[in-house]
Amino acid sequence: MAQEKTVTPGMHGQWSSRWAFILAATGSAVGLGNIWKFPYITGENGGGAFVLVYLFCIALIGLPIMIAEIMLGRRARMSPVNAMQALAKQEGRSPAWKILGWMGVLAGFLILSYYSVIAGWALAYIFRAASGVFSISTADGIQAMFGDFVSDPEALLAWHTIFIVMVGAVVARGVSKGLEKATKYLMPSLFILLLVLVGYAMNTDGFQQGLAFLFTPDFSKLTPAAVLTALGHAFFTLSLGMGAIMVYGSYLPKNASIAQVSLVIVIADTAVALLAGMAIFPLVFANGLEAASGPSLIFQTLPLAFGQMPMGQLFGTLFFILLVIAAWTSAISLIEPAVAWMVENHGLTRPQATFQALTVTWLVGIGTVLSFNLWDFHFSFFGQEKTNGIFDMLDLLTANIMLPLGGLLIAIFAGWKMKESHSRDELNGNRSVYEFWLFVVRWISPTLVIIVLLHLFGVLKLIGIE
Ligand code: PFF
Repeated sequence: MAQEKTVTPGMHGQWSSRWAFILAATGSAVGLGNIWKFPYITGENGGGAFVLVYLFCIALIGLPIMIAEIMLGRRARMSPVNAMQALAKQEGRSPAWKILGWMGVLAGFLILSYYSVIAGWALAYIFRAASGVFSISTADGIQAMFGDFVSDPEALLAWHTIFIVMVGAVVARGVSKGLEKATKYLMPSLFILLLVLVGYAMNTDGFQQGLAFLFTPDFSKLTPAAVLTALGHAFFTLSLGMGAIMVYGSYLPKNASIAQVSLVIVIADTAVALLAGMAIFPLVFANGLEAASGPSLIFQTLPLAFGQMPMGQLFGTLFFILLVIAAWTSAISLIEPAVAWMVENHGLTRPQATFQALTVTWLVGIGTVLSFNLWDFHFSFFGQEKTNGIFDMLDLLTANIMLPLGGLLIAIFAGWKMKESHSRDELNGNRSVYEFWLFVVRWISPTLVIIVLLHLFGVLKLIGIE
């Protein structure tokens, strides 16, 4: 490729320190996935057993693949498409590995298109919380308020547009500038606010039931769809399998320990998701709500808590502001692989690349806007009824298929295609930690992902294993 020459390693800048990277990567990982998606898919998939499978996927698949993905990024120091091309060349492998980078760019576009619509809901709820309306509403009223809101496509489109503009404003300037500062204060504040919410939930009479729902596994509720969703969510919540973490890794200073930073990110991300679950399910049971109510879950439960607790107006407003910022730092990383690639290969400036990439994302997002009102067709996914048309389809396609597939390819490349001397040099830590990682990333993570994906495609049935 002629344009390859213009790519210089490190052309996008570097994080100022290991902590700056940890904050940015945690900013990418912690987002709507933890606070909005984790509770609602846990509710839809029956609770405890699903949570257990999810935690299992985080430990055996998410953590090792995160190490692999950061390693590939730091070694190549380029955007995922060019990184995979350069690494494949370095290792004497097929140039087709570049497709992995492409798939990531596509997944990033598709995810951001719906992610932005949901972030728009959170934006709108900042103003609802601030108005004090939650304190004068009943559970039914809060449900009706949400129903009215999402049935108005123009309102959803307006909030989606505002969020896309917010993302553009940061991405156009370059990731490491504004982002480092924002995450430093955001993460601890969000954490504290979640603790406040859990504290409130402890005093409701649904607390025991909520905890039991989350942490007592009932394996009879574990369907194939639930296992696939848990696997997909492990990738989604850790921002893995599409190059987001790879591109952030490419800005990581050489001396930072990849295994250590990965562990910190994974623990922080998982803690936030579990706290969100512990805040939300007690409210669901205390108020006789439906655990399986889908994407609306947090918008129908948390306002109840804010409406009833002391200083709820303040806490509620703060909570939705923090949720928007968490979504913002994630959204930035969803589009970064595409923008970095356009800058490297097409000679665009960052603002130009950002504008083009986000215009496409915005347009695709209209499909999701309509999924909650004019075009909310239903379909069945492994026997599970999906009610929100394009939104559900995009979510299933990206989180449950593209990200696991991307992660699988990353594991295969890092574990099998890269020379051991190279990965050892890059990971450059404790010898037994390296050996353990190599074993898991070669054998355990790919095998588990393959089993789940094969199940999805019904291949096991076809060849008579089931
Ligand atoms: N991890 C983000 C969340 O949990 O909200 C979503 C996400 C960001 C997914 C970046 C994938 C990604 F590359």
